[in-house]
Amino acid sequence: MKVAHTVAELRQALPREGVGFVPTMGYLHRGHLALVERARKENPFVVVSIFVNPLQFGPGEDYHRYPRDLKRDQALLEEAGVDLLFAPGVEEMYPQGFATRVSVEGPLTALWEGEVRPGHFQGVATVVARLFLLVGPSRAYFGEKDYQQLLVVRKMVRDLGFPLEVVGVPTVREEDGLALSSRNVYLSPQRRKEATVLYRALLAMREAALRGEGVAEALERGEEVLREAPEFRPDYLAIVHPQTLLPLSRFVPGARGIVAGRFPEVRLIDNLEVHP
Ligand code: PAJ
Repeated sequence: MKVAHTVAELRQALPREGVGFVPTMGYLHRGHLALVERARKENPFVVVSIFVNPLQFGPGEDYHRYPRDLKRDQALLEEAGVDLLFAPGVEEMYPQGFATRVSVEGPLTALWEGEVRPGHFQGVATVVARLFLLVGPSRAYFGEKDYQQLLVVRKMVRDLGFPLEVVGVPTVREEDGLALSSRNVYLSPQRRKEATVLYRALLAMREAALRGEGVAEALERGEEVLREAPEFRPDYLAIVHPQTLLPLSRFVPGARGIVAGRFPEVRLIDNLEVHP
């Protein structure tokens, strides 16, 4: 596996076509590796980027303490058969005076994560657009774990006409249902057990839907489960349209349950298809 730390090194090492691309912020886990595996299957050349993007963190968020371990990540990617790792520094991605932003407007970015984390999706869209232009992939891989992010990237790609396909990959979970996340390292063993409350709330909503209950009842079932973890402060629990993310009053095929909130030491998000 080649490693590029600068744009010049990246350009040197890139083939003309057939690139599958997996953008990440590193501290890799099996969720990231599922994206890499999928990319390996579908493309002759796989590029992974590791860049903790300051633009997508708000003031008071965890940019500075976000976990980083490039050596370990490099070994994992090597083993996974990745062709090229792009790991730029902040000055390389955003040279002195960098002033451009890419912003997807409308309810898709105003709601949910967009409301709780103002500026977050602008930071994501800006870095992803810049990475797409640098790497020039035919396909780019994003996890359903960050479902709203996946939709925002799809929208940006469609609106700006990036010549690539965005591929969504199902969420990889621990055995007890907790979605894998780099931020799970913040969880103490006690909190680790409580953290399953997000997934259990989503499951309760899905079960309610399968029993034929309506959206309001299903939400009540989910809220009941969230109350089992008294230190969890929900930002939102909702049942939404799978493309627009607008709240639903009746179930539609593919309806998505979404949930996010804070424990004292970490903020967690999750989502699940709650209606077939
Ligand atoms: P990061 O949180 O490192 O995630 C990188 C990719 O891995 C994202 O597409 C994310 O949805 C996916 N992912 C994370 N956990 C997953 C899981 N348990 N199962 C499946 N996929 C999972 O998301 C980002 O970085 C950044 O916002 C980025 C897109 C790189 C832009 O900076």
